[in-house]
Amino acid sequence: MKGLILSGGKGTRLRPLTFTQSKQLVPVANKPVLFYGIEALVEAGIRDIGIIVGDTREEIQGAVGDGSRFGPEVRVTYIDQPEPLGLAHAVLTAEPFLGREPFVMYLGDNILKSGVSSLVEEFVRRKPNALILLTEVPNPRMFGVAELSGGRVVRLVEKPKEPKSNLALVGVYLFDHNIFRAAKAIKPSWRNELEITDAIQYLVENGFEVQPHLVTGWWKDTGKIEDILEANRLILESLEGRVEGDVDADSRVSGAVVLERGVVVRSSTIRGPAIIGRDTEIVESYIGPFTAIQSGCRIVRTEIEHSIVLEGSEILDIGSRVDESLIGRGVRIYKCPPKPSVYRFVVGDKGEIGIK
Ligand code: G1P
Repeated sequence: MKGLILSGGKGTRLRPLTFTQSKQLVPVANKPVLFYGIEALVEAGIRDIGIIVGDTREEIQGAVGDGSRFGPEVRVTYIDQPEPLGLAHAVLTAEPFLGREPFVMYLGDNILKSGVSSLVEEFVRRKPNALILLTEVPNPRMFGVAELSGGRVVRLVEKPKEPKSNLALVGVYLFDHNIFRAAKAIKPSWRNELEITDAIQYLVENGFEVQPHLVTGWWKDTGKIEDILEANRLILESLEGRVEGDVDADSRVSGAVVLERGVVVRSSTIRGPAIIGRDTEIVESYIGPFTAIQSGCRIVRTEIEHSIVLEGSEILDIGSRVDESLIGRGVRIYKCPPKPSVYRFVVGDKGEIGIK
């Protein structure tokens, strides 16, 4: 079994962060979203992983390398998709890499709590032509939607105007080589993409075995800012504490908190779950639950929770609490004259905000 991770795309719904960073590298609990997918495949015993890249190639390759950081036998092959013409087009682009082997296709901005090990086992044991993951969602119009009858897939529609169910296709699929034939047979959709949903529908219509699997644990497609924050919350919920930084006697650290090496905490309260990256300084501040702060940041006389702060940013003297914010790299937020109430920031990399 091989792995195929899709990591191209422009990430327009995550702007401004994606002006300077590919969406799959946005960190969730201080780890790039993409790494969760790679780790899930490795945990399922997959060693040969292809990553589809577009304009993102250099950055993704810089972060992931040859794969050895994920395990001694893990090999990553980069596959260029010259144009983002859809998920089924990506599969065709990867045909030379995949050959006749079955594979797990994993959308690089998805996180699946339960991983993929049991799905790989199920696929190997029952040998369907495709295994698709489904989960109930409140807004099925945003996804590929499945219609089931008696536990069998009868129809799949990409982003239907009038969904026949609330069962969305999760961005993790298991296929055998018949998917190539399906991807070659379909036509581009209204958004001019070869949709994987249509390719699977082709399999259904042409007598191939498409097995549905309902996801029980949580699943997040981190396509939007609020999804990133939610994924951050969900991952931090199962964080295990580890304090390697330096906390002074005037500070209090409670709950599951990770303080990486070189972190300095002075006269502050940190209430977990929270993770703070290397060499970040926290001074006279409150860091509340579900906060992830990357390395090299300075948080001074500020209260912050339910937020993500990327590398090298500074938040200084903010009088009221920063909440549900995603702050890019190298951002400076500082106080001008005092000002009450909550702020909500969505600031791109290298942004600078002065508050009066
Ligand atoms: C894609 C698929 C869709 C699926 C979703 C899951 O949507 O086309 O069927 O439900 O991923 O994340 P897209 O991200 O291209 O809008």
